[in-house]
Formats: sequence, C-alpha cells, structure tokens
Amino acid sequence: MKKDTLVVYFSCGGTTEWAGKTLAGILGCGSYPLEAQESYTKEDLDWRNPDSRSSLEMKDEGARPAYKKLPVDLEDYGRIFIGFPIWWGIEPRIIDHFLEEEDFKGKEVVPFATSGGSPIDKAQDRLEEKYGPRLKILRGQRLNRSLEKEDVEAWIQGLTSEK
Ligand SMILES: Cc1cc2nc3c(=O)[nH]c(=O)nc-3n(C[C@H](O)[C@H](O)[C@H](O)COP(=O)(O)O)c2cc1C
Repeated sequence: MKKDTLVVYFSCGGTTEWAGKTLAGILGCGSYPLEAQESYTKEDLDWRNPDSRSSLEMKDEGARPAYKKLPVDLEDYGRIFIGFPIWWGIEPRIIDHFLEEEDFKGKEVVPFATSGGSPIDKAQDRLEEKYGPRLKILRGQRLNRSLEKEDVEAWIQGLTSEK
C-alpha cells in the first residue's frame, strides 16, 4: 500500500514554517508544526547569551525538550520531511527528541533546514550517524527564502532510498 507524504517543521521565528508550507505546497501534502511544550521566547533564543535556554540546550548533547504530540498518526505516512532552523550549526535538540520518540520504522525521513548561512551538511551527517541504521534518512536540503521552485523540485525528484 502506498503511504502518504507529510511535512513536519519546527520553527520559532516563522522562516522554517514558511519553508515547510512552501514545500508542502509543492508536494501537495499536509504540513504540521512540531511545537515545543514550552514555547521559546525571544530571550530563550538569544545565542549571544551563554545562559539562554537555547544555548544551554545546545551545550547539552542529552537535552531533549518536550514537544506536543502531532494531531496525526505517523503510521499513515511513508515519507516524512522534517524541517528545523540550524542552531549552532546543527539540528535543535527537539528534533533529536522527535526522531527518538516516534516510531519511524520503515519510513523515509527527509531533513530540511533554514539558517542564517550555515549549510545543512553538519546536521545531515549527525542525523545519519545517530539514526541512520534505524531510520532511512534521505539527502536533506537547506531551503531559504531565495529558493527557486525548480531547485526544490529537482531535489525532491532526486530523492531515493538507495544509498
Ligand atoms: C539559538 C540560535 C542559534 C542559531 N545558530 C545558527 C547557526 O549556527 N548558523 C546559522 O546560519 N544560523 C543560525 N541561527 C539562525 C537560524 O538558523 C535562522 O534564523 C532560521 O532561519 C530561523 O528559523 P525559524 O524562523 O523557523 O525559527 C541560529 C538561530 C538561533 C535562534
């Protein structure tokens, strides 16, 4: 049975939300925000403050911020795009929590990210290294506001589980 595609995105400032919705529009599928149980304030996101919530979480490899359960059953989906802002060069810890907590067995997971300039590569490598044998992690993409629809389509076309 062919299973559907879903886009899930974590976004604090709206950029990744925009990317996720744009991607879902191109894919013709649904999209849902992955929301932190306790949402991030402006102060929480201050990377210049070494004691801000995001700084403390990113310094702690084991930090696993709580998130709200999605209102959909992931069981119904075969390919799940997961979007996030790059924090300190990598994926925010809430993404690790989501990937560890939910059952992605037999599913394809496709990362995408937005950032101020950092590429997705480091996050991609980490996700493959940490979750690769358990999850099918396909080649992700940084999707910033300057993205061209054709480039997004070419990336989607090129996705394959053969590695
Ligand atoms: C705590 C924190 C750390 C960040 N670290 C990086 C970084 O290492 N490299 C980068 O290019 N952008 C970094 N950014 C910028 C975000 O990745 C970028 O603004 C992103 O598009 C925000 O997505 P959002 O609006 O969906 O939250 C950081 C932002 C925050 C809040």
